[in-house]
This record gives sequence, structure tokens and C-alpha cells, in this order.
Amino acid sequence: MRRGILCLLAVGALAACGLTACTSDVAGKAGHGRPRIGVILPDSKSSARWETADRKYLAAAFKAAGVDYEIQNAQNDKSAFTTLAEQMITQGVDVLMIVNLDSGTGKAVLDKAKNAGVATIDYDRLTLGGSARYYVSFDNTAVGTLQGQGLVDCLTAAKITKPVIAELNGAQTDNNSTLFKDGYDAVLAPRFASGEYVKGPDQWIEEWDNTRAGTTFEQMMTAQPNIGGVIAANDGVANAAINVLKKQGLNGRIPVTGQDATAQGLQNILNGDQCMTVYKDVRREAAAAAKLAIGLAKGETGVTDHKVHDPVGKRDVDSILLDPKAITRQNVKDVIDDGYIAADAVCTAAFAAKCAAAGIK
Ligand code: BGC
Repeated sequence: MRRGILCLLAVGALAACGLTACTSDVAGKAGHGRPRIGVILPDSKSSARWETADRKYLAAAFKAAGVDYEIQNAQNDKSAFTTLAEQMITQGVDVLMIVNLDSGTGKAVLDKAKNAGVATIDYDRLTLGGSARYYVSFDNTAVGTLQGQGLVDCLTAAKITKPVIAELNGAQTDNNSTLFKDGYDAVLAPRFASGEYVKGPDQWIEEWDNTRAGTTFEQMMTAQPNIGGVIAANDGVANAAINVLKKQGLNGRIPVTGQDATAQGLQNILNGDQCMTVYKDVRREAAAAAKLAIGLAKGETGVTDHKVHDPVGKRDVDSILLDPKAITRQNVKDVIDDGYIAADAVCTAAFAAKCAAAGIK
């Protein structure tokens, strides 16, 4: 096990990011030789999940195992991401777990960690061409398949014929966005080919930025006012599209997909404005990654169940992949019954009647 001086860690991180730019979660004591794990989350705006779910469940798992840990958020700043990683490596983490902001920056820190003898895990996003020893995520192509199928089901239920389909993809720098797109495009392609659906505008949303998503969708609607269905890669992007549809009185009439089962996404579903979301139980993802990290920090070999191909690095990465689940108005209740989101977060006063109608207590 490698040793370092954890007491410098918090100070270093604050110096690097400033109190407002970075959020941190530090536990443990210096120099006790206890296993030590560093985690870097990507941002807190592209999805609510990173701060409300991932941080919480990773911290809980590390605390329960009694390991020293530090969880930082790079707040979408690539140089802060690199600085945080370098500090964690210098100060002696045994394991570095990252959610990359892009593969280039991710690869640079993974390589540095590897050279310093630090075990590495790609969490949620695979770093293409990177050197992470392990990868823990959901089956992201399956996420995209659920989104594509969800849109088809909503279009069929609404009896919308020959819809022009708009695609608001995630950030092109996020390998998951490519996998989501592979999944939904495979569902939609045969429908375009047969003429059942019409291929419409199709754009990546840089940095998964919700404001950009709104502007992009507004431009799409102006260029092609007859859009009949929208693939939105996650709930934040979906909400941006829904806000544009609202301005034109079209919300609820044009199905929009999503992902992450956020409180806002579930409310949009209850309102009838969002067709579906994808529930990825981050508790399972965080627990699996934490278990792997804790074992590695203690010098054990990780147990995985999948190999994921990295087409850039031309290697198969030992991985753990979990199954996602589609959520529509019929089963919003399942996410709450499962304890993933508290009823209060979704069933605010304005949603009380809709929650009751959906059987949510
Ligand atoms: C994650 C999604 C998330 C998106 C934006 C993706 O890599 O898998 O859950 O919504 O990033 O943060």
C-alpha cells in the first residue's frame, strides 16, 4: 500500500480550485497506512446525478468500509480536473477513480497514475485510448436502445404518423454519448429506411450543456417546424427541449425521451411532457465501483463480469456493467418505491394529484 500525507489533500484541493469552484468530500487521517481512494466527478450541471447520487453513495460505501477517501468535483474544468488528479497522486492515493471530461484529459491523468503505481478505475465513462485498469458503468448501448424503443412506443401510442425525429445527443467527447446514440439509432434506422419515420436534425450538445441544448432545439424547430418526436440524451437536455415546446404550446404533443430518472425528469413524465426516462440505479454503480476500489487499495485483484472494447486503445477493459431500466408514466412509482428518489422530491404540492394518480405515496 502506498502512503501519503492526506492532511495536505484538502488544503491543496482548495488552493487548486478555490472554495466556490470545487466541492470536496474528504475523510480519513494522514499517515495511518489505511487504504486511500481518490474520486473525481465531472461537474454538477450536466446531470443532477453526480452530486445528488454518485457522491452520496460512493461516500457511504467508503465510510462503511473504513477507508480514507476524497471525492472532488472538477466542475467541468479540465485544468482543475488535472490538478485534482495530480494532487491525489502526489499525496498518495492507492486508487484513483475518474469520470473523465474528455478522453484526452482522462488519458493523461490515468497514465500519470499508472506510472506512479496507482490503480485506476474509469467510473461511468470509458476513457478511449486510456489506461484504466477497470471500468464500471451501465450497459450504455442498452440505455440508448431503451430510449429509442421508448420513443417508438410513445409515438405509436400518440398515433403520430411519419414523424420527423430530432436528436439531441450528449457531448461528443463523452464515449457514453456515442453508445447511447448507437443504441437509439439502431432502433430508429430501420424506420427511417422504410419511410415510417423521417430523419430530422441530429446534433451533439457540447458539454451536455442544457442552455446550449435549448438554443439548439429552438433552431431545429425553426428550421423544421414539423418535428414529431425528440430523442433527448438525458433529463436535463429533455427539460431544455420541453421548455422550447412549452413556448409553442407543443409540450405533451411531441414525445421527448430522457435519462437519469432525476426528480425533474420524473415530474416532466408525470406532467405528460416527457415520454420516458432511463433509470440507472446509481446506488448499484457506486457500490460496485467502491467495492472494486476498496479491494484494489488493499492489494486485491478486482472481480469483474464483462470486457468492454476500447476501439481507440484497441484493448478489452475488465469491466462491471449494470442493467438500465425504462421508466414511463406507468412505472414512475417504481423509482420511488425502490428508494432511489424520495417521494417528497417529486411530489411537491403542484404534483400531489399527479403523484396520487400514479399510485405514489
Ligand atoms: C452519464 C449520464 C449523464 C451524462 C451527463 C453520461 O456520461 O452516463 O448519466 O446524464 O453523462 O452528465
